[in-house]
Amino acid sequence: MPAEKLMLEYLMLSGPDELSAGEQRLLEEAKGAALKAYAPYSNFRVGAAIMLEDGTIVTGNNQENAAYPSGLCAERVALFYASAVHPGMKVKALAVTAINSDGIIEQPVTPCGACRQVMAEYEKNSGIPMRIIMQGQTGPVMVVDSVSSLLPFTFVNDFLFNHKRKP
Ligand code: THU
Repeated sequence: MPAEKLMLEYLMLSGPDELSAGEQRLLEEAKGAALKAYAPYSNFRVGAAIMLEDGTIVTGNNQENAAYPSGLCAERVALFYASAVHPGMKVKALAVTAINSDGIIEQPVTPCGACRQVMAEYEKNSGIPMRIIMQGQTGPVMVVDSVSSLLPFTFVNDFLFNHKRKP
């Protein structure tokens, strides 16, 4: 049987100038949020900014803890807060960036697997694609049109409910 193949699409823009004005602003908000991160252990300050369907922007940043696994990534801080305040929210776009105190990050910061999983569920629930915009402190901007380009074969809530009944 021949192997199946999967194609993912992404844009690699030379810089934020190639984004729309709204997306440039979203990335700026993410950069502002990164400055306020609580990351005393990694010194890797991540910022995320979410654009809701009505234009509302919600930001978040990573929150670390001396008990390391208790901390949370910027993207999930932003998404959970947005969902808490705007239940049933529809996310049009999410921008993510980071600052490393030891040097300048020149390549796009791509979200961790757990954050991709959380993004995927909100995207599925909302019924609209979530555009993900990623940059380091400088350098190219990577864009995907949907979380599915970052996380194929996603574990979705259907799996919990759709099963063949026992006879
Ligand atoms: N981090 C994020 O905030 N987002 C990611 O997608 C990856 C990692 C944070 C977690 C931790 O506080 C620090 O970056 C170093 O891993």
